[in-house]
Amino acid sequence: MTDRHFDELATRFAEKIYGGAKGAIRLAVLQADLKEALPERPLRVLDVGAGLGHMSLWLAQRGHRVTLAEPAAPMLAGARQRFAEAGVEAQFIQAPWQELLGRLTEPYDLVLCHAVLEWLAEPHAILPVLHQLTATNGWLSLAFYNKDALVYRNLLKGHFRKLRKERFAGEGQSLTPQKPLDPRELAAQLESLWRVESHSGIRVFHDYMPAEFQARAELADLLEMELAYRRHPAFAGLGRYLHWLCRPR
Ligand SMILES: C[S@@+](CC[C@H](N)C(=O)[O-])C[C@H]1O[C@@H](n2cnc3c(N)ncnc32)[C@H](O)[C@@H]1O
Repeated sequence: MTDRHFDELATRFAEKIYGGAKGAIRLAVLQADLKEALPERPLRVLDVGAGLGHMSLWLAQRGHRVTLAEPAAPMLAGARQRFAEAGVEAQFIQAPWQELLGRLTEPYDLVLCHAVLEWLAEPHAILPVLHQLTATNGWLSLAFYNKDALVYRNLLKGHFRKLRKERFAGEGQSLTPQKPLDPRELAAQLESLWRVESHSGIRVFHDYMPAEFQARAELADLLEMELAYRRHPAFAGLGRYLHWLCRPR
C-alpha cells in the first residue's frame, strides 16, 4: 500500500464535501477548538497535507503566517485559487510529509495535520516528523478518521460480516479513507512525543441521524448541537473524525 495523493476526481469530491453540512461541521469544530487554545499573537503555521486549504485560509485571515504543504497538484491548485480569490498571501509547497524536514528549516508554532493520517501507508511514521516541525512551546492540531465511529456505524446498519472481517478500507476512487485509525493505538504512539490537551469529536451525531431528520435539520442547529456535544464523555468518541490538540513533551 502507498500514500494516497489526491487526484482530480478526489479533489472534486473533496470540494463537494466542503460545500455541505459535513464540511461545515468539520470546520466549525476545528475552529472552535483552535480559537479556545491559541494566543492572540500571529503564529507561524504549517498545514501538512493542506488539501484545498480551508483551515489555512481561515488562519491566514486571522493574521497568522501560513505555509501549505500538499503533494497533490490539483489540491494545491485549488488552495492557491481560494487564497487568490480571498486576496490573502501564503507560502505553497508541493511536497509529501516525507520531504518536509529537508525543505523547511524554521519550527512552527502550530502544525495542522487534518484528515491525512488515514490516507498514509504508515500513519505512525509521520508522528516524529510532525514533532520535529513543531516549536517546543507550540501545538499540533491532529484530526483523523475514527475507526470506532466506523465500527459503530456498521453495528447500527447490521453489517456484522463486514465487522467480523474488519473490512473497513475504502477502495479505488472512493473518498472513504484507506485506513481508519484506532484512537487507543494512536494515543499509545503519541504518548512519548505529545501531551493531548483537548479531545473533540467531529460529527458526533450528524452522520448517525436517520436521513429524514438529517434532511429536515437546519445547518445552524446542527452546528450548535455538534459544538455543544463535541466533548461530551458519552459522544465525543463517536465522532466520525477526532480532533486532538497536542503539546510537545
Ligand atoms: C482528505 S484530504 C485533507 C485535506 C485537508 N487537510 C483538509 O482537512 O481538508 C487528505 C490530503 O492528504 C494528502 N496526502 C496524501 N498523502 C500525503 C503525504 N504523503 N504527505 C502529505 N499529504 C498527503 C492528499 O493529497 C490530500 O490532499
